[in-house]
Amino acid sequence: MWISRMLGVGAMTFVFLISTALANDVVVLTKDTFEEEVGKDRGALVEFYAPWCGHCKKLAPEYEKLATSFRKTNTILIGKVDCDEHKSVCTKYGVSGYPTIKWFPKGSLNPKKFEGARTAEALAAFLNIEGGTNVKIPSLPPSVVILSPDNFDKVVLDETKDVLVEFYAPWCGHCKALAYTYEKVAAAFRLEEDVVIANLDADEYKDLAEKYDVHSYPTFKFFPKNNKTGEDYVGGRDMDDFVFFINARCGTNRDEQGQLTSKAGIVPSLDGLVKEFVSANDDEKKIVFSRLVEKVNTLKGSTARYGNLYLKLAKSSMVKGADYAKNEIQRLEGMLRKSVSAAKADEFTLKKNILSIFV
Ligand SMILES: *[C@@H]1O[C@H](CO)[C@@H](O)[C@H](O)[C@H]1NC(C)=O
Repeated sequence: MWISRMLGVGAMTFVFLISTALANDVVVLTKDTFEEEVGKDRGALVEFYAPWCGHCKKLAPEYEKLATSFRKTNTILIGKVDCDEHKSVCTKYGVSGYPTIKWFPKGSLNPKKFEGARTAEALAAFLNIEGGTNVKIPSLPPSVVILSPDNFDKVVLDETKDVLVEFYAPWCGHCKALAYTYEKVAAAFRLEEDVVIANLDADEYKDLAEKYDVHSYPTFKFFPKNNKTGEDYVGGRDMDDFVFFINARCGTNRDEQGQLTSKAGIVPSLDGLVKEFVSANDDEKKIVFSRLVEKVNTLKGSTARYGNLYLKLAKSSMVKGADYAKNEIQRLEGMLRKSVSAAKADEFTLKKNILSIFV
């Protein structure tokens, strides 16, 4: 699957590799780096794990959530060691089962074992006591649309939306394990008006499950705008799998944090005219601009919205001169580095992406 992705959509895969790297807030420790990072000027929480261990896999999203919440706390490091690869480290610190979680106070290599529940909340409470921090695990605002017979047809069969539906059962372990990932998927696409991430308790509403031929849980079905039959989603169940699928099928360009990628807003069919526009002199620019207007008027949907942004930026560059795009990109980058709302970040990123072809 990975190979076919690389062949099919090379550029997109590249974007994904970057965003996957960013998504990881847990510091990977090795036998070479362990004592450079741990026991130094900040406390460290370390998970000793093995890649094949089921309890470790179950802990992974909780541990990731913890690390993300502590990202801005520079007095605590959240790390992990793969004990298959770096056995000597794990032996040295007396690890005999997986996962083992140990707290190393600032300046100390004498750890204290964490014995609490393996949830982000319990780990955060432990760290707040041991490390003197005051970090809360934010609960994601629910973005998954909850379906029932009352709203199923209205939401899922809406031909203006691409809808992904999880059919789950409350008692199903795999469903529970996926719940946080699925919430994150929904959160990542919450600003996309045409994308709906939904779920249905298929145990409670058996008739609907039956109607869509659902016999095991979780089952994912995709209902794109142009075909409301409900196709089986057969992709992987990690965050990046869902994000890849949605981007590919819904024409969106988001990463796992829900941020727009550098391809968002780009309308390839305008490339040629923009090139002409950029290299034209002032008089010619007006002529190329009117051709750009004509072309944009033929666009539809979100492409039309981006096209209009092209026109606005082209106009500004005619008024403000040759350096406009370059300076404006710098200004937008500066604002994006500050904490701005997700909607503002979208707006700035779109502008920045489009301006980059006006340089
Ligand atoms: C609609 O989707 C179903 C399920 O994936 C598929 O069998 C069918 O061929 C599709 N219909 C059209 C017109 O594409």
